Amino acid sequence: MSTPQPSVPNLADRRILLAVTGGIAAYKAADLTRRLMEAGAEVQVVMTAGAQEFVTPLTFQALSGRPVRTSLLDPAAEAAMGHIELARWPDLILVAPASADVIAKLALGLADDLLSTLALATDKPIVLAPAMNRLMWGNPATQANVATLVARGVQLIGPGSGFQACGEIGDGRMSEPLQIREAIAQRFSQGPLAGVKAVVTAGPTREAIDPVRFISNRSSGKMGYALAGALRALGADVALLSGPTSLSTPSGVRRVDIESAQELLDAALRESADAQIFVGAAAVADYRVEQVADEKIKKKDATMALTLSRNPDVISTVRERDARLFVVGFAAETEKLEEHARGKLARKKLDLIAANWVGRGRAFDRDDNALSVYWNGGGRELPRANKAEIARELAALIAERYARRVT
Ligand code: PMT
Repeated sequence: MSTPQPSVPNLADRRILLAVTGGIAAYKAADLTRRLMEAGAEVQVVMTAGAQEFVTPLTFQALSGRPVRTSLLDPAAEAAMGHIELARWPDLILVAPASADVIAKLALGLADDLLSTLALATDKPIVLAPAMNRLMWGNPATQANVATLVARGVQLIGPGSGFQACGEIGDGRMSEPLQIREAIAQRFSQGPLAGVKAVVTAGPTREAIDPVRFISNRSSGKMGYALAGALRALGADVALLSGPTSLSTPSGVRRVDIESAQELLDAALRESADAQIFVGAAAVADYRVEQVADEKIKKKDATMALTLSRNPDVISTVRERDARLFVVGFAAETEKLEEHARGKLARKKLDLIAANWVGRGRAFDRDDNALSVYWNGGGRELPRANKAEIARELAALIAERYARRVT
């Protein structure tokens, strides 16, 4: 009787940068390379110095059909594809096995070898398949590093539990190559927004007055964070550009912190360059203080005037730069909701606008909201519900309208 073969998922045209780090599980990475290639992926292997103590680069070169990259300071390899190019090349970076040491390095943001530098210089999703002794895995230092990485949007596959190379039994075994391949394939194929990058802005901005004071607003970021999570659940790769909030980052979402409207604009232009969807849920300050004081302002007179100048309009600038982006705005209104929202839809050349009544305890810094969504020639009401539910409905509507535009 023949053994049933697992079905091979389709990873055709997917570029995977497989980073192999030092650990006995490095030998399983050779099989993983073969399994990824079998599914149609292009695989570029990067090895740390530790990994080369366990398996030679030649093994991975033979399996992947590409020279293995091992050093940041190799002029010949850099001439073929510089490390910045290499960081941009893949659809996904998979670190398997991911040792405790490399997890700590990535959490700290070090850049002292090729892998850590690539991880800092990339905006592609990073997936880790940890492998280590059970006590190393359970150590609070490792767990804190893992929590930091997960909060930044890094995905974990495993580790599994069982008999370990060191002779102990417990958590820390690297997942099997077929399990890792399946999880990667799922990540690529999940949901109507799989393969789509969405940029979401959330929270308030802060406009400095002096080193200790600023102008801001009551946005908590709850609406934008919920939407980032909902778009991620539909399969999108999500970059969340966040003003100061006390919220934790939704799972699988990559967060970029900003303070001022100008910082938000810079991040928005950078992140939307390779995105398909842009959503502006942030409450961006329309004005900033013209002359920010270098020192703390001392009180003198009974009154004091601040001269403000106009901030750039983030969403309009992003739209003007890229006509192919699907751009979703929010409108925060205290009167004539539909009229003002449709005005913004047209003026800012948006594809969709989600309007909410604000003021008197509505929308800002609350757990619930209600939205009236408008687009050219149509609209839909999303009745009051908690922001997670409203975000799910809005994300589904965005996916639907985006798909129509694409087709
Ligand atoms: O954060 P929460 O407490 O959960 O509250 C959610 C919210 C009320 C902040 C949110 O639902 C919302 O309405 N966000 C947009 C707030 C706003 O600034 O609206 P607006 O009507 O002033 O601006 C219209 C659009 O232009 C928005 O997409 C805004 O992000 C964008 N804008 C505004 C000014 C500016 N300089 N640049 C911009 O991109």
